[in-house]
Amino acid sequence: MSLALPLRRPHVFFFRKANLAAVALLSRPALDSRKSFLVYAMTFPPNKRQRREEYRQAQTQATQKESAEIQMPKKRFYRQRAHANPFSDHKLDYPLSPAHMDWASHFPAFVDPDENKKNEGGFRQRVKDVEVVDIGCGFGGLLAGLAPVLPDTLIVGMEIRISVLEYVTGRIQVLRAQSEQAQKTSSSTTSSPAPAPAPAQASSSATSPPPAAAAPQSPSASSTTITAPVPGGYQNVSALRTNTMKFLPNFFAREQLSKIFICFPDPHFKARKHKARIVSPALNAEYAYVLRPGGLLYTITDVEDYHNWILKHFEKSSPVEDAAAAEKQEASDEREGNSDTGVKELWERVSDEELKDDPCVRIMSEETEESKKVTRNKGNKYVAVFRRKANPQWPA
Ligand SMILES: C[S@@+](CC[C@H](N)C(=O)[O-])C[C@H]1O[C@@H](n2cnc3c(N)ncnc32)[C@H](O)[C@@H]1O
Repeated sequence: MSLALPLRRPHVFFFRKANLAAVALLSRPALDSRKSFLVYAMTFPPNKRQRREEYRQAQTQATQKESAEIQMPKKRFYRQRAHANPFSDHKLDYPLSPAHMDWASHFPAFVDPDENKKNEGGFRQRVKDVEVVDIGCGFGGLLAGLAPVLPDTLIVGMEIRISVLEYVTGRIQVLRAQSEQAQKTSSSTTSSPAPAPAPAQASSSATSPPPAAAAPQSPSASSTTITAPVPGGYQNVSALRTNTMKFLPNFFAREQLSKIFICFPDPHFKARKHKARIVSPALNAEYAYVLRPGGLLYTITDVEDYHNWILKHFEKSSPVEDAAAAEKQEASDEREGNSDTGVKELWERVSDEELKDDPCVRIMSEETEESKKVTRNKGNKYVAVFRRKANPQWPA
């Protein structure tokens, strides 16, 4: 049987996409006359997917060598469709409970020196717990910015998109390696001790202001090499792949966290997609569960409608709705089992005055990838920060 494949553009396109399949198909004797095309198909340059794979492998190998020359990963090899569906069943690993989580592999500089100390999952214990979480960390700009500002606090980014997570992981490895190299160079040229992670120190409290003085501008993804020692050497940041809408309480115990960041969340504009938003009555209850009283939840968005949505779900009386609208909304939420009146009792908005001196606000407004995009496009940025109030007195 001969396959009469006309060599028109669509097929050429197909062969470009899968040149191996093309080779297999065209190898039939009946297609001898197409040998010249076969040779052409075989000599195609590697397609985009192959190039990405090759780049990533080379990057991983370079990082493992911990050479001073290693470069920041290039974002274009890690791009992925903008919105992941949080309701689909991604293949995700998650711990049975926070006590089963392997944090030791994320924060090797903070592992407890006593090898016999293991958690319920059989993993080495750390000298401190993760305290700060960046939900939907994207390409990791916030993590890179926060790391030197909170050098003694363990910070984790959580991201659902696999390629994006691979990029952040690579970025952190490079930051650690470069910073270690800078530390070595500095120690050999000066006698003054450079800052290093201090695992044994007490963790920063949720309410104490972060040390603003120790806030060097973090190296951006595009910048090349770290040349001076960085407080903490990026040993205090890591990232993992998960769907926070489903698994947040699997990672963190009650009142474990001091800060949660939600920066430029996917807006899910259409009303029927609002259920995919990362702020909702059910999720806000989970945030209140993992955040300790006094802890802060930071939000920033460039979408005014989403900002209003956030205010509506955290504040008892929203400034954007009149009483009648609020009553109508409450009745509809009640009907749909979406009522958040109880949850709102656990939050209060932090005043702009108080936020003025908080370096975290500057970092989330200027150093995340999305914030930079918004700045370039001269868009607006809406910030709202909420404090987790003390638990109410439960009726006896
Ligand atoms: C618009 S991006 C913002 C990224 C980053 N925060 C920034 O400001 O540059 C939103 C990110 O949240 C991630 N995301 C969305 N839903 C998520 C979920 N349920 N769990 C974890 N990550 C999620 C997306 O994959 C995306 O990377």
